Amino acid sequence: MGAENAGGQKDPAVWARGLTKRYGEFLAVRGVDFAVRRGECFGVLGPNGAGKSTTMKMIYGRTPPTEGKLRILGMDARADMRRIKARIGVVPQEDNLDPDFTVIQNLLVFGRYFGLPRRTAAERAERLLEFVGLAERREARVEKLSGGMKRRLVIARALINDPELLILDEPTTGLDPQARQLVWSKMRELRSRGVTLLLTTHYMEEAARMCDRLVIMDQGRILAEGSPDQLIEEHAGPWTAEILLPPDRHEEARRLLDTGSRDVAGGRKREAIRGWESAEDRLLVYTMSAEEARAVGERLRHAGLGGAGFFSRPTTLDDLFLRLTGRTLREG
Ligand SMILES: Nc1ncnc2c1ncn2[C@@H]1O[C@H](COP(=O)(O)OP(=O)(O)O)[C@@H](O)[C@H]1O
Ligand SMILES: [Mg+2]
Repeated sequence: MGAENAGGQKDPAVWARGLTKRYGEFLAVRGVDFAVRRGECFGVLGPNGAGKSTTMKMIYGRTPPTEGKLRILGMDARADMRRIKARIGVVPQEDNLDPDFTVIQNLLVFGRYFGLPRRTAAERAERLLEFVGLAERREARVEKLSGGMKRRLVIARALINDPELLILDEPTTGLDPQARQLVWSKMRELRSRGVTLLLTTHYMEEAARMCDRLVIMDQGRILAEGSPDQLIEEHAGPWTAEILLPPDRHEEARRLLDTGSRDVAGGRKREAIRGWESAEDRLLVYTMSAEEARAVGERLRHAGLGGAGFFSRPTTLDDLFLRLTGRTLREG
């Protein structure tokens, strides 16, 4: 039942296998596999140049895949892009609003593009302006808007066709904290209405807060996939002991902890160390609990290591990225 199945509810929102994009000799996306479930917020976290936008552009039909399989809402990205476009919304990385038009005109133009009846488009446009808090700015020219307002307008515009899947490519990059909070609250509201969200970001905080599941992407590849908590449990440990220590003493500290963690001291097992990472003048030790992280700090201090600075804190996706790539998200 081809027609029935196409776009049926059972299919994932996005399904990619071996998805590849080549620009000349350069492989921007190197055979990635992932699936976005209906109704979830799915994140693609990675530094600049990871291949996030290229992946999104293949999904929303800006550029064709070089190789691999790609299905969106049960339809084939190569064969069915026209039908796919009617059912998705796109917030591209670069705001491509028309600067000479007013706020409302930018929405109406998009309504026409989707072939909506005039009245439907007008009604939706007004409702969407309310939704993103821009009703007062209805007649303002786009060039007069702040960065945060432009972003919200692009989100409103992406919703004009009432999409099932909303793709947001770095929705909050460059926004101040308050503007970012506003965008997040709109995203949460959409998700609670059942819209599937696919978002890219290089902010680990955004990924950790917003995403039910995410992939970590770097140099065209997916390195890990799961919920933020799962990823941290699997690849590090939920608590990090962070010790300020000159790099030439990291090995000594590792040896000490390595011996200790295999000991049974006074019938009690020492803290279980899930891994470590040298990050210049910091040694990061991943453990299962706050107590264990503090115990690691204590033990090193007793041995005269890390007296200068120590703290125990929850492990973040930044730590995870460092663990998976040896670099920080900021370094790219
Ligand atoms: N049209 C293009 N032609 C050639 N190279 C490109 C093109 N678009 C992107 N790239 C390259 O592909 C890589 C991934 O880019 P992109 O998908 O934009 O990464 P991200 O969105 O994660 O920052 C980068 O090295 C970028 O320079
Ligand atoms: Mg990008």
